[in-house]
Amino acid sequence: MQSLRVDNVRKNFGTTKVLRGISLDISKTEFVALLGPSGCGKTTLLRIIAGLERQDAGSVDIAGRCVDDLGPAERDIALVFQSYALYPHLTVAQNIAVPLVMRRLSAVQRLPGLSRLSGYARTQRRDIARDVAQIAESMEIGHLLDRKPGQLSGGQKQRVAVARALVRKPSILLMDEPLSNLDAKLRVQMRQEIVGMHRRHGATTVYVTHDQTEAMTMADRIAVILNGELQQIGTPAEIYKQPASIDVAEFVGSPKINILPCTLNTHGLTLLGTAHAGTAGLAGASAAFIGIRPEHVTVDVEGEGPTVRCKIASLEYLGSEALIQARVGDSGEEICLRTDIDVFERAKQSDTLKVRFSARNMLLFGQDRRRIDWSAAQGTA
Ligand SMILES: Nc1ncnc2c1ncn2[C@@H]1O[C@H](COP(=O)(O)OP(=O)(O)O)[C@@H](O)[C@H]1O
Ligand SMILES: [Mg+2]
Repeated sequence: MQSLRVDNVRKNFGTTKVLRGISLDISKTEFVALLGPSGCGKTTLLRIIAGLERQDAGSVDIAGRCVDDLGPAERDIALVFQSYALYPHLTVAQNIAVPLVMRRLSAVQRLPGLSRLSGYARTQRRDIARDVAQIAESMEIGHLLDRKPGQLSGGQKQRVAVARALVRKPSILLMDEPLSNLDAKLRVQMRQEIVGMHRRHGATTVYVTHDQTEAMTMADRIAVILNGELQQIGTPAEIYKQPASIDVAEFVGSPKINILPCTLNTHGLTLLGTAHAGTAGLAGASAAFIGIRPEHVTVDVEGEGPTVRCKIASLEYLGSEALIQARVGDSGEEICLRTDIDVFERAKQSDTLKVRFSARNMLLFGQDRRRIDWSAAQGTA
């Protein structure tokens, strides 16, 4: 069931086109990451979904209902900001309770001391305390309920912010770079915690990040946004293995994918001035570039795919593997290889390498930088 639909949403700030017609369909309980570099419009899109910002064109539906004319409080969503936005003078329990108190008690009933007088307010307060304890338990912060935010670590504050967002059981949870204030080690741990939390609670989640590793490890699907446009939406494996364009291919994957200019004719592939036999099957495609990831460039290995001679430019030892930067022939083009340590040790002994681009993993792109499905072009799909 579709839970969130964004239909052709556009937004300009003055003359800056920030969102240029974004459409997304997100199913119930799905975890979707909005991935893109800083400034590409992720926060703006999240704020439009939340109702904190008004789009110039297009519409947003939540659970099958158009919410364009509804305020943030009426949209059944919860937001976790980068800065957590906890109230410093309230305890953890009181912070988590805020959304429930606002919803279940009137302004008068919220006055301290009044719950002693009113039976209704007393029951409500008891229910709120129970709901808070329950969510706190599931986020493993039950023992922190009496502390103030100033007495918590970064990871604990993060959990409180997520607990506060989930306590109302919103149909959609929106998170804007929630881990960017944490140190690297904690970030890795919190990735798993948020995924586990999502599995338990099942709220449809839109998670904004500029960090490809976060998106790859956490999301069911990734929406890649570049320059205010949705470039591609797909599973992490689809985005990595079948990127829609050179721009997506270059944004996802580290070290970056190698892109080299090429030509194709009836004889096959010509790469950097050298024709490669055994590639005639590709000739139906009109590719202008090949893309090959660093782990798919091999040294001294028999197999399918073009080979080229390279001059080693630099070597980087990473412990479990190594990276080699090499210049291809006389072309001036540089490629990066990811290799095991044995190959690395041998490469250290020489200046040149003969490398092979694994045919199975080679990507082809047209002059327009869009990917060409070459197994289909080849008729072997
Ligand atoms: N309220 C605003 N007024 C003017 N420009 C804005 C405003 N909010 C965002 N922008 C601009 O819109 C672009 C996208 O911003 P944002 O959505 O925050 O990107 P991201 O979250 O992907 O880093 C940026 O160029 C930013 O400067
Ligand atoms: Mg942002």
